[in-house]
Amino acid sequence: MEKPAINDVLAVANRAAHEAGAILMQHFGQLSQIRHKSAVDLVTEADLASEAAIVKMIRTSFPQHNILAEEGDYEAAANPEFRWVIDPLDGTTNYVHGLPLFAVSIAFQIKGITELGIVFNPALNELFMAQRGRGATLNGQPLQVSDVGHISEALLVTGFPYTRDKIFTRSFDLFASLYPMCQGVRRLGAAALDCCYVAAGRFDAFYEANLQPWDICAGDLICRAAGGRTSDWTGGELPFDGHRVLMSNGHLHDELMNIISASPAGKV
Ligand code: IPD
Ligand code: CA
Ligand code: CA
Repeated sequence: MEKPAINDVLAVANRAAHEAGAILMQHFGQLSQIRHKSAVDLVTEADLASEAAIVKMIRTSFPQHNILAEEGDYEAAANPEFRWVIDPLDGTTNYVHGLPLFAVSIAFQIKGITELGIVFNPALNELFMAQRGRGATLNGQPLQVSDVGHISEALLVTGFPYTRDKIFTRSFDLFASLYPMCQGVRRLGAAALDCCYVAAGRFDAFYEANLQPWDICAGDLICRAAGGRTSDWTGGELPFDGHRVLMSNGHLHDELMNIISASPAGKV
């Protein structure tokens, strides 16, 4: 199958992100259906409408491409070489509570390599974007990670899993180990934004266990394209499945990995 022109992919991803963002804003504060996937994992009509719009746009332009998205199952018959990875609404809990920290996340991969990533927060009108080899931007302006060199000067961000198992408990232990060492550890509730905020230098590092591909795929490229480093908790490749994710400005990476791996909490 012929490789699509990256500009065509970018145009579709950009339109899809804006259309999905508009859908999210139409429903923001007006929700009628909130379904529980688990006690705390929510899905709304906005998640579903946003995903339907994105998938329809991709299918119209690239009917053969594979799609991995949070709410639906589309992969089966498609071409595995070209894959879109989509979170139609990252930060659903914030969204349901009227907190404007949520985003649409869209990534495009060729043979498992992420070529394009867009994370769009329509409530704050912030569009983070990266194309492989071309740097990262926020609303068209170049992004650069921070130059903070020591954890004692760093502001970190993390998240906690929905499933209340061993990993859940250990995530709080790790939080307790890191918290006294730095200037703060925030918990925003939207992993795609956490990655982009490291890219923008708002945070110096982001770590979390038990994420999913659609939470981090676009944000990983955006963070790296802004000069950051992404990996698992031992310095290996960033796991596509989102388990044990570490993203930083690069300077803090080794120090953070040492702290995390020395802590029993880091063995989740
Ligand atoms: C969630 C957010 C949150 C993270 C959760 C994710 P969702 O995504 O990214 O920050 O801690 O693990 O599931 O459910 O709002 O799309
Ligand atoms: Ca998500
Ligand atoms: Ca989601």
